[in-house]
Formats: sequence, structure tokens, C-alpha cells
Amino acid sequence: MKAIAISGSPRKNGNTEKLLDYGLKVLEKEGIETELVPLQGKDIKPCTGCLGCRKNSDKRCVLKDNDFEKIFRKMLNADIIIVGSPVYFGSATSQLTALLDRAGYVSRGRGNLFSRKLGGPVVVARRAGQNFTFAQLISWYIINDMIVPGSSYWSIGFGGAKGEIEEDSEAIASVQRFAENLAWLAHKITK
Ligand SMILES: Cc1cc2nc3c(=O)[nH]c(=O)nc-3n(C[C@H](O)[C@H](O)[C@H](O)COP(=O)(O)O)c2cc1C
Repeated sequence: MKAIAISGSPRKNGNTEKLLDYGLKVLEKEGIETELVPLQGKDIKPCTGCLGCRKNSDKRCVLKDNDFEKIFRKMLNADIIIVGSPVYFGSATSQLTALLDRAGYVSRGRGNLFSRKLGGPVVVARRAGQNFTFAQLISWYIINDMIVPGSSYWSIGFGGAKGEIEEDSEAIASVQRFAENLAWLAHKITK
């Protein structure tokens, strides 16, 4: 069983990565293989709405860049997909939405390739906009026919400067419980 956590932060070792790491550690302890997939420095173009992925016989995205196909393949191979984003002006980052728009559209065009995969979002804000971003990302899971377990709270944390998330013990506990629930569910449905 494999879990990936995609970080939409353009900052290396930032708060989003740190918070995601707490979840990945729990999944590892539960015997699940894990991988953090940071998007910083990755070349993923935004969807142009050309519908090439619906018209071509191989149903692949026609945009040419270095990293979309590699990360899309990681998503297809994973049983659990967590996505994390810092809040940028009340939204997920453009790095993450570029990936999710294209991955979601291609997947749906090929008969919902993410169907019944498990996962959910993790969001970090300095001060505000976290609920919008959390809702934005949950919506991606729901329209892609995926399964999102709950937690002790929404997986939302607060931090501005790098490392500040370490002071948000409630966010860490929420992400850890979320990961426990992901592992519990994954083990149940593969029995
Ligand atoms: C362009 C930009 C926009 C931001 N917009 C918001 C915002 O709307 N609300 C907020 O609380 N924090 C906002 N922030 C702060 C980040 O969400 C915060 O610093 C977060 O911890 C960054 O996560 P990271 O370390 O994983 O990159 C913004 C930061 C940047 C660079």
C-alpha cells in the first residue's frame, strides 16, 4: 500500500511540508509506504481547457512540460493521496491547482481513475482564508469520486514564518488523527 503527500508550497521545508510530514510518519508506523511529493521547482503548466485529453485516442494531457506526467503517475500508483497547500489570498497555490486541474480532468476523461482512492487536504494559513482553501480542496476529492475520512478537527494549521507550524499542536494532532483514520480505513478495505 502506498501513500503520497503532495505539497503545493513553493517554499522548501516550509510549514505545509512539516505538517504533511506528521501525517506521513503516522502512515509509515501503520506499515504504509510513504512519499512526500513537493511541487516547488516543478514545471507543471496550468490547464488551457483545450480538451486535447478528451479528443486524443490515448486520452493524455497534450501540454508539454517536465513534471506533470511523472507526478500524475505517482498519483495513479498511490492508494492514498493527501494534498497540502499554504493559503495564498484565500486559495490553494497555483502550483497545486495547476496539477489538480489537469490530473482531475484527465482522470475523469478516462473513467475516474482516482475513484475510491483515499485522501484529503491539509492547509496552512498565517491568519485567514483557511476555510475557503480547505473547502476548495475537499471539493476536488468529492468530484473525483474519492473517499475523505474525518479527524478530530479540520486539518488546518497556523504559521507564517517557516517552522511556526511546530507551535500549532492542535493542527498537528488533527493531521495525525486524519492519518490514523486513513490507515484504519485503508487496512479495513483491503482485508
Ligand atoms: C503570495 C502569498 C499569499 C498569502 N496569502 C495568505 C492568505 O490569504 N491568508 C493567510 O493567512 N496567509 C497567507 N499567506 C501566508 C502563508 O499562507 C503562510 O506563510 C504559510 O505558512 C506558508 O506556508 P509554507 O511555509 O508551506 O510555504 C500568503 C503568503 C504568500 C507568499
